[in-house]
Amino acid sequence: MQTEVGISDKKKFLEGGDIFSLENIGIRFENKYALKNISLKVSKGEILFITGVSGAGKTTLLRVLAGEIKSSEGKFKFNDRDQFITRVFQDLRLLQDQTLEENLWLSFDNFIYESKREFKKEMQNYCRFFSIHEMLNLKVSEANGGLKQQVALIRALLSRPQVLLLDEPTSSLDTEKALKVYEILDFVNSKYRTTCIWATHNRELIKKFNGRIIYLDKGKLIYSGHACFI
Ligand SMILES: Nc1ncnc2c1ncn2[C@@H]1O[C@H](COP(=O)(O)OP(=O)(O)OP(=O)(O)O)[C@@H](O)[C@H]1O
Ligand SMILES: [Mg+2]
Repeated sequence: MQTEVGISDKKKFLEGGDIFSLENIGIRFENKYALKNISLKVSKGEILFITGVSGAGKTTLLRVLAGEIKSSEGKFKFNDRDQFITRVFQDLRLLQDQTLEENLWLSFDNFIYESKREFKKEMQNYCRFFSIHEMLNLKVSEANGGLKQQVALIRALLSRPQVLLLDEPTSSLDTEKALKVYEILDFVNSKYRTTCIWATHNRELIKKFNGRIIYLDKGKLIYSGHACFI
Protein backbone atom coordinates (compact mmCIF):
# COMPACT_ATOMS: atom_id res chain seq x y z
CA MET A 1 0.00 0.00 0.00
CA GLN A 2 1.25 3.45 -0.85
CA THR A 3 1.30 5.51 2.29
CA GLU A 4 2.86 8.68 1.17
CA VAL A 5 2.05 10.05 4.60
CA GLY A 6 4.64 9.30 7.24
CA ILE A 7 5.22 10.36 10.81
CA SER A 8 6.33 13.83 10.08
CA ASP A 9 5.16 17.34 10.57
CA LYS A 10 2.50 17.20 7.97
CA LYS A 11 -0.16 19.83 8.64
CA LYS A 12 -3.78 18.77 8.76
CA PHE A 13 -6.51 20.93 7.42
CA LEU A 14 -9.24 20.65 9.94
CA GLU A 15 -12.65 21.91 9.04
CA GLY A 16 -16.09 21.30 10.28
CA GLY A 17 -15.68 22.07 13.97
CA ASP A 18 -15.81 19.75 16.93
CA ILE A 19 -17.09 16.25 16.75
CA PHE A 20 -17.03 15.69 20.50
CA SER A 21 -17.39 18.25 23.22
CA LEU A 22 -17.25 17.35 26.88
CA GLU A 23 -17.83 19.79 29.68
CA ASN A 24 -16.95 18.87 33.24
CA ILE A 25 -17.69 15.21 32.73
CA GLY A 26 -17.58 13.02 35.81
CA ILE A 27 -17.80 9.23 35.94
CA ARG A 28 -17.95 7.29 39.17
CA PHE A 29 -17.70 3.58 39.79
CA GLU A 30 -18.80 2.59 43.25
CA ASN A 31 -18.43 6.16 44.46
CA LYS A 32 -14.85 6.44 43.23
CA TYR A 33 -14.17 8.86 40.39
CA ALA A 34 -12.72 7.25 37.26
CA LEU A 35 -13.04 10.61 35.47
CA LYS A 36 -13.42 13.97 37.11
CA ASN A 37 -14.19 17.38 35.59
CA ILE A 38 -13.10 16.43 32.11
CA SER A 39 -13.53 19.20 29.58
CA LEU A 40 -12.39 18.37 26.10
CA LYS A 41 -13.13 19.17 22.50
CA VAL A 42 -12.10 16.96 19.62
CA SER A 43 -12.10 18.37 16.10
CA LYS A 44 -13.41 16.48 13.13
CA GLY A 45 -10.48 14.89 11.36
CA GLU A 46 -8.13 15.15 14.33
CA ILE A 47 -5.74 12.45 15.52
CA LEU A 48 -5.64 12.61 19.30
CA PHE A 49 -3.64 10.46 21.69
CA ILE A 50 -4.82 9.82 25.23
CA THR A 51 -2.09 8.87 27.62
CA GLY A 52 -1.51 8.41 31.34
CA VAL A 53 -0.52 5.62 33.72
CA SER A 54 -2.60 2.52 34.37
CA GLY A 55 -5.89 3.40 36.05
CA ALA A 56 -5.75 7.04 34.91
CA GLY A 57 -9.08 6.78 33.08
CA LYS A 58 -8.11 6.32 29.42
CA THR A 59 -10.43 3.40 28.73
CA THR A 60 -13.26 5.05 30.63
CA LEU A 61 -12.90 8.17 28.52
CA LEU A 62 -12.97 6.15 25.31
CA ARG A 63 -16.08 4.35 26.54
CA VAL A 64 -17.77 7.69 27.16
CA LEU A 65 -16.91 8.78 23.61
CA ALA A 66 -18.20 5.47 22.24
CA GLY A 67 -21.50 6.06 24.05
CA GLU A 68 -21.03 2.98 26.22
CA ILE A 69 -21.07 4.86 29.50
CA LYS A 70 -23.34 7.78 30.25
CA SER A 71 -21.93 10.39 32.54
CA SER A 72 -24.09 11.54 35.42
CA GLU A 73 -22.11 14.77 35.73
CA GLY A 74 -21.39 17.40 33.11
CA LYS A 75 -22.35 17.64 29.47
CA PHE A 76 -21.39 15.29 26.68
CA LYS A 77 -22.08 16.14 23.07
CA PHE A 78 -21.47 13.99 20.03
CA ASN A 79 -22.07 16.65 17.47
CA ASP A 80 -22.65 14.66 14.36
CA ARG A 81 -24.73 11.60 15.03
CA ASP A 82 -24.53 10.57 11.38
CA GLN A 83 -20.85 9.92 11.78
CA PHE A 84 -20.05 6.25 11.90
CA ILE A 85 -17.92 5.20 14.89
CA THR A 86 -15.85 2.04 15.01
CA ARG A 87 -14.00 0.90 18.10
CA VAL A 88 -11.00 -1.36 18.61
CA PHE A 89 -10.87 -2.01 22.33
CA GLN A 90 -9.13 -4.70 24.35
CA ASP A 91 -11.87 -7.26 23.75
CA LEU A 92 -11.18 -7.14 19.94
CA ARG A 93 -14.53 -8.85 19.26
CA LEU A 94 -13.19 -11.38 16.77
CA LEU A 95 -15.11 -14.56 16.03
CA GLN A 96 -12.91 -17.27 17.51
CA ASP A 97 -13.94 -20.24 15.37
CA GLN A 98 -13.65 -18.34 12.10
CA THR A 99 -10.54 -17.58 10.08
CA LEU A 100 -8.85 -14.21 10.13
CA GLU A 101 -10.06 -13.58 6.59
CA GLU A 102 -13.64 -14.44 7.50
CA ASN A 103 -13.43 -11.93 10.30
CA LEU A 104 -12.20 -9.27 7.88
CA TRP A 105 -15.12 -9.95 5.55
CA LEU A 106 -17.49 -8.91 8.34
CA SER A 107 -16.71 -5.34 7.35
CA PHE A 108 -17.92 -5.81 3.81
CA ASP A 109 -20.79 -3.47 3.11
CA ASN A 110 -22.54 -2.93 -0.23
CA PHE A 111 -23.07 0.71 0.58
CA ILE A 112 -19.36 1.36 0.94
CA TYR A 113 -17.84 -0.92 -1.68
CA GLU A 114 -18.92 -1.18 -5.29
CA SER A 115 -18.00 -4.84 -5.41
CA LYS A 116 -16.54 -7.68 -3.37
CA ARG A 117 -13.52 -7.38 -5.60
CA GLU A 118 -12.91 -3.81 -4.52
CA PHE A 119 -13.25 -4.83 -0.87
CA LYS A 120 -10.87 -7.74 -1.34
CA LYS A 121 -8.28 -5.51 -2.96
CA GLU A 122 -8.39 -3.06 -0.08
CA MET A 123 -8.22 -5.94 2.40
CA GLN A 124 -5.17 -7.36 0.65
CA ASN A 125 -3.48 -3.98 0.57
CA TYR A 126 -3.82 -3.55 4.32
CA CYS A 127 -2.74 -7.14 5.00
CA ARG A 128 0.32 -6.80 2.79
CA PHE A 129 1.21 -3.53 4.46
CA PHE A 130 1.29 -5.36 7.80
CA SER A 131 2.90 -8.47 6.22
CA ILE A 132 0.12 -10.73 7.48
CA HIS A 133 -1.33 -11.62 4.06
CA GLU A 134 -0.07 -15.19 4.21
CA MET A 135 -1.67 -15.91 7.57
CA LEU A 136 -5.28 -15.16 6.79
CA ASN A 137 -6.35 -18.80 6.73
CA LEU A 138 -5.54 -19.22 10.40
CA LYS A 139 -8.42 -19.44 12.78
CA VAL A 140 -8.57 -16.65 15.35
CA SER A 141 -8.03 -19.24 18.07
CA GLU A 142 -4.72 -20.20 16.40
CA ALA A 143 -3.43 -16.64 16.05
CA ASN A 144 -1.21 -14.86 18.55
CA GLY A 145 -2.15 -11.62 20.29
CA GLY A 146 -0.28 -9.34 17.90
CA LEU A 147 -1.82 -10.92 14.83
CA LYS A 148 -5.29 -10.64 16.34
CA GLN A 149 -4.74 -6.97 17.11
CA GLN A 150 -3.70 -6.28 13.53
CA VAL A 151 -6.73 -8.11 12.15
CA ALA A 152 -9.07 -6.22 14.49
CA LEU A 153 -7.54 -2.96 13.35
CA ILE A 154 -7.73 -3.84 9.65
CA ARG A 155 -11.33 -4.94 10.07
CA ALA A 156 -12.09 -1.58 11.66
CA LEU A 157 -10.34 0.28 8.82
CA LEU A 158 -12.22 -1.72 6.19
CA SER A 159 -15.49 -0.47 7.63
CA ARG A 160 -14.24 3.04 6.73
CA PRO A 161 -15.35 4.71 9.93
CA GLN A 162 -15.55 8.44 10.29
CA VAL A 163 -14.48 8.11 13.90
CA LEU A 164 -12.07 5.43 15.08
CA LEU A 165 -11.62 4.81 18.81
CA LEU A 166 -8.60 2.70 19.75
CA ASP A 167 -7.71 1.38 23.15
CA GLU A 168 -4.07 0.25 23.29
CA PRO A 169 -4.27 -1.23 19.79
CA THR A 170 -0.53 -1.94 19.78
CA SER A 171 -0.11 -3.48 23.23
CA SER A 172 0.96 -6.84 21.71
CA LEU A 173 3.05 -5.34 18.90
CA ASP A 174 6.69 -4.36 18.75
CA THR A 175 7.65 -0.74 18.16
CA GLU A 176 8.21 -1.25 14.45
CA LYS A 177 4.69 -2.62 13.99
CA ALA A 178 3.23 0.02 16.32
CA LEU A 179 4.74 2.69 14.08
CA LYS A 180 3.13 1.01 11.09
CA VAL A 181 -0.21 1.23 12.84
CA TYR A 182 0.37 4.92 13.29
CA GLU A 183 1.40 5.27 9.66
CA ILE A 184 -1.78 3.61 8.44
CA LEU A 185 -3.95 5.74 10.70
CA ASP A 186 -2.25 8.84 9.40
CA PHE A 187 -2.96 7.57 5.90
CA VAL A 188 -6.70 6.96 6.45
CA ASN A 189 -6.91 10.21 8.35
CA SER A 190 -5.55 12.02 5.30
CA LYS A 191 -7.55 10.02 2.77
CA TYR A 192 -10.95 9.84 4.48
CA ARG A 193 -10.54 12.46 7.20
CA THR A 194 -11.13 9.81 9.82
CA THR A 195 -11.06 11.19 13.35
CA CYS A 196 -8.75 8.89 15.36
CA ILE A 197 -8.66 8.83 19.14
CA TRP A 198 -6.08 6.48 20.49
CA ALA A 199 -5.27 5.55 24.08
CA THR A 200 -1.71 4.35 24.58
CA HIS A 201 1.13 3.91 27.03
CA ASN A 202 3.64 3.63 24.20
CA ARG A 203 6.18 6.39 24.76
CA GLU A 204 8.07 5.68 21.53
CA LEU A 205 4.93 6.38 19.60
CA ILE A 206 4.08 9.51 21.52
CA LYS A 207 7.59 10.86 20.99
CA LYS A 208 7.18 10.50 17.22
CA PHE A 209 3.71 11.98 17.17
CA ASN A 210 3.37 15.52 16.01
CA GLY A 211 -0.18 16.36 17.06
CA ARG A 212 -2.11 16.89 20.25
CA ILE A 213 -2.09 14.54 23.17
CA ILE A 214 -4.02 14.63 26.41
CA TYR A 215 -2.60 13.30 29.63
CA LEU A 216 -4.85 11.87 32.32
CA ASP A 217 -3.86 11.42 35.92
CA LYS A 218 -6.20 9.82 38.46
CA GLY A 219 -9.18 10.66 36.33
CA LYS A 220 -8.23 14.27 35.73
CA LEU A 221 -7.11 15.83 32.50
CA ILE A 222 -3.87 17.51 33.45
CA TYR A 223 -2.38 18.27 30.05
CA SER A 224 -3.67 18.95 26.58
CA GLY A 225 -1.16 20.05 24.00
CA HIS A 226 1.72 19.12 21.82
CA ALA A 227 3.34 15.76 22.50
CA CYS A 228 6.84 17.24 22.67
CA PHE A 229 6.15 18.96 25.98
CA ILE A 230 5.35 15.85 27.91
N1 LIG B 1 -16.42 -1.08 35.17
C1 LIG B 1 -15.73 -0.62 36.21
N2 LIG B 1 -16.12 -0.85 37.48
C2 LIG B 1 -15.43 -0.37 38.52
N3 LIG B 1 -14.33 0.39 38.41
C3 LIG B 1 -13.89 0.66 37.17
C4 LIG B 1 -14.55 0.17 36.00
N4 LIG B 1 -13.90 0.60 34.91
C5 LIG B 1 -12.85 1.32 35.37
N5 LIG B 1 -12.84 1.35 36.71
C6 LIG B 1 -11.87 2.06 37.54
O1 LIG B 1 -11.73 3.37 37.02
C7 LIG B 1 -10.37 3.80 37.02
C8 LIG B 1 -9.95 4.14 35.59
O2 LIG B 1 -9.88 2.92 34.85
P1 LIG B 1 -9.53 2.85 33.31
O3 LIG B 1 -9.68 1.44 32.92
O4 LIG B 1 -10.30 3.86 32.58
O5 LIG B 1 -7.99 3.26 33.33
P2 LIG B 1 -6.91 3.15 32.16
O6 LIG B 1 -6.18 4.46 32.11
O7 LIG B 1 -7.56 2.70 30.92
O8 LIG B 1 -5.91 2.04 32.72
P3 LIG B 1 -5.02 0.98 31.88
O9 LIG B 1 -3.83 1.75 31.37
O10 LIG B 1 -4.62 -0.03 32.89
O11 LIG B 1 -5.84 0.40 30.80
C9 LIG B 1 -9.58 2.68 37.66
O12 LIG B 1 -9.43 2.99 39.02
C10 LIG B 1 -10.46 1.46 37.46
O13 LIG B 1 -10.24 0.53 38.48
MG1 LIG C 1 -7.31 1.04 29.70
